[in-house]
Amino acid sequence: MIIAIDGPAGSGKSTVAKLVAKRLNYRYIDTGAMYRAVAWTAQKKGMGPADETAMAQIAGSLDIEFVPSADGQLVLVDGENAMAHLKNETVGRGAATVAAQKSVREILVAKQRQIGEAGNVVMDGRDIGTVVFPQADKKFFFIADADERGRRRYEELKSKNPNLDLKIIIEEVRQRDHEDRNRKISPLVMAEDALEVDTTGLSIEEVTNHVLKNINNL
Ligand code: C5P
Repeated sequence: MIIAIDGPAGSGKSTVAKLVAKRLNYRYIDTGAMYRAVAWTAQKKGMGPADETAMAQIAGSLDIEFVPSADGQLVLVDGENAMAHLKNETVGRGAATVAAQKSVREILVAKQRQIGEAGNVVMDGRDIGTVVFPQADKKFFFIADADERGRRRYEELKSKNPNLDLKIIIEEVRQRDHEDRNRKISPLVMAEDALEVDTTGLSIEEVTNHVLKNINNL
């Protein structure tokens, strides 16, 4: 079984995908972390994310592993536990830049298919139901009000950086969505056979139960 959950930043997909995977005893794969890993590695090397040839080289040589852990999963980038480095908006913006590059997408999509082909996986991202696994058994497309998505991202990041400005985070989330929706290759778009879930005003538990109910009704 392959479950695809796509949607814009802050729509709740990673949180819910993780819980759904746990309840079903499936693997959870956060494909956004793979684009982030490329942007983060470039940043560490002092490179900007705009050079497609260099980014493709990084994407091709990086070893990205998803390892189940007590709180969901660890992301190991060349063996280093990288989640804390990947989850910030600078890396997020870099990820959106590298995600618009054809050769980077080809390399990461191939890795995602390889990871997912064993089945029993919940994979979240922007193009899982449309490009990575168009034959997925169940597809969800999460949406939510942009201000609420910005607020969720702010709450998530605030503990590590108390000086964050909510307005700036909302603006960054909007900007990243705009880029994801309008890029030429694999833009963020709902698959025709996906179920749209508006998570605005809903709790994590409500959304998780809704998704599980739909999967069980297959
Ligand atoms: O989901 P997350 O916010 O971690 O994704 C970071 C960025 O990676 C997104 O803004 C998007 O540009 C890109 N991405 C993508 N396709 C995916 C997952 C993420 O283009 N399947």
